[in-house]
Amino acid sequence: AIRIAVLISGNGSNLQAILDACQAGEINGEVVAVVSNKADVYGLTRAEEAGVPALVVAPQAGESREDYDARLDAELSQLNVDLVVLAGFMRILSEGFVNRFAGRMLNIHPSLLPKYTGLNTHQRALDAGDEEHGCSVHFVTPELDGGPVILQAKVPVFEGDDADDLAERVHTQEHRIYPLVVKWFAQGRLTMTDGKALFNGEVLPVAGYA
Ligand code: GAR
Repeated sequence: AIRIAVLISGNGSNLQAILDACQAGEINGEVVAVVSNKADVYGLTRAEEAGVPALVVAPQAGESREDYDARLDAELSQLNVDLVVLAGFMRILSEGFVNRFAGRMLNIHPSLLPKYTGLNTHQRALDAGDEEHGCSVHFVTPELDGGPVILQAKVPVFEGDDADDLAERVHTQEHRIYPLVVKWFAQGRLTMTDGKALFNGEVLPVAGYA
C-alpha cells in the first residue's frame, strides 16, 4: 500500500472521498497524514474521526514561501510519503517544492482545464455563458494549475444556476474522479514523463475515462 499525505485548507470533502475509498479497499493506500495550512477547518476533524494524524502547518508572519514550503517538506519527508494529494489546498507551492514531488503530487481543480486556472472558477464559467463546466485532476508542475491533466468530469450548466449550484454539481463529480485517480496511482499505472501524464505507459488524452 502506498503512503499518502493529503493537504487541505478547508472542508475536506475530497479528503473524505479518498479516506472512504482507502477504508473500502478501493485504493491500495493509506492516508498517513492530513496537513492543513489553517487551524480549525472541518477537514482536520474528518482526519481525526478517521484516526489519521492531522497537523497544522500555519504560515508565520513574514515567512517566505520557500521557508514555509521547507517546513512542509520536512513534515512530509519524515512520513516517507509516496504521494501528495492536494485537496482544496489554497496555497501556491514554490518551484523547488513542486519539483521535489514531480510525478508524485496530484491536484484537483474545479474547472475543465485549461479553462479557468486560479480562483472563482464557477462564477467565471457562468459569466462566460458556458454550457458545460467540470473538474480536472492533474499532476502538479510549477505552472499554477498547468500540469498535465489525468482525468476530467463534465457537468451541465442549467439556466438559473448560481455559483453555489455549480460548485455543488462539480463537487459530486470531484468525489468520483479523485479517488479513482488515486487508485490508479496506487496501482502504479500513472506516471509523468516529459511533462506528460501517462496511463499504463501511454499518453493520456485530456478528458479521459470517467
Ligand atoms: C474543491 O472544489 C477543489 O476543486 C477546489 O477547492 C474545493 C475544495 O473542497 N480547489 C481549488 O480551488 C484549488 N485551487 P473540499 O475541501 O470540500 O475538498
